[in-house]
Amino acid sequence: MIPQPFIHDLLDRVDIVDAIDRHIPLKKAGANFVACCPFHNEKTPSFTVSQTKQFFHCFGCGSHGNAITFLMNYNGLSFVEAVHELAAYVGMQVPSQLGAETSSANFAASKNVGDHGYQADVSKQELVSTLDTVTQYYRQQLKTSEKAIEYLKQRGLSGKTAAHFGIGYAPSGWNNLEAIFSSYESDDTRGLLLKAGLIVTSEDGKQYDRFRNRIMFPILGLKGQIIGFGGRVLDQGEPKYLNSPETPLFEKGREIYNFFSARRAIREANSVVVVEGYMDVIALWQHGIENVVATLGTATTAFHLQKLLRQTDHIVFCFDGDKAGRKAAWRALENGLPLISDGKYLSFLFLPEGDDPDSYVRQCGKTAFEHQLSQAIPLSEFLFKELCAGNNLQTDEGRAKLVHDAKPLLRQVKASVLSFMLINRLAELSGMDQNELHDILQIKRIAKSPVKKKLSRRQPSSPYRWIILALLHDPSYVEKLDRNLLVSLDGNNPDIVALRALVEFLREHTHLIENKSSTSLLTDLHDSPNIALLESIESETLEWGDTIDIEAEFVGALEKLKQMQRKKRMTELHSRPLCELSEQEKQELQRLAML
Ligand code: UTP
Ligand code: MN
Repeated sequence: MIPQPFIHDLLDRVDIVDAIDRHIPLKKAGANFVACCPFHNEKTPSFTVSQTKQFFHCFGCGSHGNAITFLMNYNGLSFVEAVHELAAYVGMQVPSQLGAETSSANFAASKNVGDHGYQADVSKQELVSTLDTVTQYYRQQLKTSEKAIEYLKQRGLSGKTAAHFGIGYAPSGWNNLEAIFSSYESDDTRGLLLKAGLIVTSEDGKQYDRFRNRIMFPILGLKGQIIGFGGRVLDQGEPKYLNSPETPLFEKGREIYNFFSARRAIREANSVVVVEGYMDVIALWQHGIENVVATLGTATTAFHLQKLLRQTDHIVFCFDGDKAGRKAAWRALENGLPLISDGKYLSFLFLPEGDDPDSYVRQCGKTAFEHQLSQAIPLSEFLFKELCAGNNLQTDEGRAKLVHDAKPLLRQVKASVLSFMLINRLAELSGMDQNELHDILQIKRIAKSPVKKKLSRRQPSSPYRWIILALLHDPSYVEKLDRNLLVSLDGNNPDIVALRALVEFLREHTHLIENKSSTSLLTDLHDSPNIALLESIESETLEWGDTIDIEAEFVGALEKLKQMQRKKRMTELHSRPLCELSEQEKQELQRLAML
């Protein structure tokens, strides 16, 4: 038995696209990834993997599941073997129920194995408070280190700015943290510090501080808690920036520096500026430009973009004007294409070569930087500029190459108006007719009929299915469901049977309701007799973009159910002679008729 919370944490950490892609190469197709199904013979890909929802589904043979299921089926592994393989891949240790931890380095694991072997939440809380303590220490150290103060001054930082960002200093020396934690010698404390990425175990088994002689930038999580650090050397040492390692709190590819603190400014400006470095964010803030965030030394992932687009309609990427900057911008564009909907837009600002936002704003000031921002080029322009670069559009071959290169990119655009505009532009540049382009690119024209009608074909066929979808999307909807409503429903309809089973399951496993993990609920339901139906309902979401308003659909479905129930009861009452109805039933009938 491997504890369920561990399975959840594991699936939260693993990216199913990574896990599958290592075995069968996946191709991006809209919001999803596809390949020819490894579980049945086919020539055109119907095996679909959703990154946002973390499951796979084959529209051909119906195989369906998460990263664990995939490994079991693909490699013929048992459940336990598959869990071990995945855990090894992301560097997690599978807790053993007997508590038979032997690794001397992993204090936390050996300590935290309770009755059921795994207590993720308790230790996360402890990790947060450990990081807090250490942040206070680093900040304290900054106040007394002339060297560090001098460095920040020379970079133009004010004391107020340093305080706003919680900047600190990790002094030289190998074991400074030992003095901070009086219980340093205990396995508990040392385990926590290891797990938090604050100390490192050397080859001979001794522990020492990870961050030494560095300016420390705390990184905050979604709730404003400290989840990790970036540390910069004061001189020329390597690496220039040392970040916290991946910990239960901190995943580099997901976190965004300054996201928490900038949220208000982002909403007020209805735009966010994405820059490359910590110091860029900080220098811009000091100059009064506050809607700024940075990724942590990684490319801008789809995950970052989704997070940002949920807050704002407009993202400006501000990258260096050099080759690396353009490459980073192109990556952001590729990841952004499938995510933008009409009304959202991305634009790109390339500063003069040799400058970054930090140096630019310090030299030229706020107004000049704002002017640069207003000159940022829209995605469409950047897209065609790059596609046309080095391509002679005077020749048929050059224009054909342009269309060829544009095809996979334009096909990813879901936003219908934007897609239309891009095709127009491509038509101009290639000299082709728009209708021909639509055919060549195999992009559907904007529907003439009302959008609603078009959507309804793909939508779940019953309100029960909508409710199931809402519950799979966010289990807390179960709290808005009226128990009586479900009891009175027809027990022969398989959708209703599945819905009831799901609701019952959630009411028995209330911890899943609060748990907003990205793992599909179906992971916990794999034994259910209704699993096939639930899987097919979940797979319906694969064909949607972000356009579905689950909340509204849920409310709508509930309303429909209430109406259905009302009609049913009225028919029941009407079928009896009026004189046989009790006074109460007559009143009920009257009330129902009024609704
Ligand atoms: P840059 O090398 O562009 O440095 O790294 P910068 O932001 O201009 O830094 P300063 O001005 O010299 O202090 C951009 C970002 O890439 C990540 C950091 O997040 C950094 O802010 N990075 C860079 C690392 O994670 N490690 C490194 O060794 C270098
Ligand atoms: Mn810089």
